[in-house]
Amino acid sequence: MVNYLAIETSCDETAAAIVEDGRRLRSHCLFSQTVTHAAFGGVVPEVAAREHLEVINQVIAQTLKEAALTDKELDGVACTLGPGLIGTLLVGISAAKALSWSWDLPLIGVDHLAAHVCANYLETDLKPPFVALLVSGGHTQILHCRSYRESEVLGETLDDAVGEAYDKVARLLGLGYPGGPMIDKLAGTGNCQAFNFPEGVVSGFNFSFSGLKTAVLRTLEKLHAPIPVADLAASFQEAVVRVLVRKTIEAQKRTGAQSIVLAGGVAANSELRRQLKEQSPVPVFWPAAQFCTDNAAMVAAAAYFCPITGQEPLTAYSRSKDRRRHQLDSSRNQ
Ligand code: KG4
Ligand code: ZN
Repeated sequence: MVNYLAIETSCDETAAAIVEDGRRLRSHCLFSQTVTHAAFGGVVPEVAAREHLEVINQVIAQTLKEAALTDKELDGVACTLGPGLIGTLLVGISAAKALSWSWDLPLIGVDHLAAHVCANYLETDLKPPFVALLVSGGHTQILHCRSYRESEVLGETLDDAVGEAYDKVARLLGLGYPGGPMIDKLAGTGNCQAFNFPEGVVSGFNFSFSGLKTAVLRTLEKLHAPIPVADLAASFQEAVVRVLVRKTIEAQKRTGAQSIVLAGGVAANSELRRQLKEQSPVPVFWPAAQFCTDNAAMVAAAAYFCPITGQEPLTAYSRSKDRRRHQLDSSRNQ
């Protein structure tokens, strides 16, 4: 039995979690900065880093308390190494380094994108191989995950990420930040055939969403009040979901994978889930909504199933390793 405490601070959520053997959630705690950043219409990196610093100790303490575990019962401390905002990542990495040093536990670095995929292992028996559609605020990829550690990028966005397109279109429609959940909700009340927005023409498994965002802007400019916001949201969402679902199923057929997995913040989207499940010839998995967007439980799962190895700056801070190094140094001196 392996219990990892994980920390996630790559963007605007300060999160900690303890997960047993990469699947069983012992506790998790998350502080979201959404309210702070909503005033600016997007995440302000320096403000985000400072807020992480203010709450991170409390978030970690609460996570340990809820799991009713002490550091003596932990087997490692994990954190997100990237990709993410450098100032915010630094807060989580520093906290993880300090804890691993003082508790004398291994420090485990995790890739944020791999962690999103690993959210699917929480409380399930899911095993690779599978095809994953990773759709977040910063990334859009179709992956062929051959094993826990090996994955191949089959295609990705050439410009905006899907979540970014949702956020930008929501801002055009005056819906606030983050836009994804707002468009998702509003689209349910609109007519998705009202506007025929174009699908970016990109070969293979790649995507392009910047043209779609511009198409929404041009349409808006020609419309007079009252603006049919729900119809625009539904038509935009339809264009996004159509291309995501088609290419993901093509990738499943090409690879022969026996399941499809959704990951990232946009995996919470109700229409994407519905259409993919309806059209996929193989079973489709997605994480619980709270583990689609950034969280630390997925980081703990990734620490167990696919840790980043061989990064000296991280491992150099492990006390056990320093002790070994010290022993080496002293034997050399003898
Ligand atoms: O994975 P995530 O929390 O952060 C990144 O790693 O980027 O994803 C955040 C993104 C935001 O762009 C947000 O608008 C989008 O996920 N999102 C959604 C939904 N919930 C969150 N997009 C569409 N529909 C949703 N229900
Ligand atoms: Zn993320």
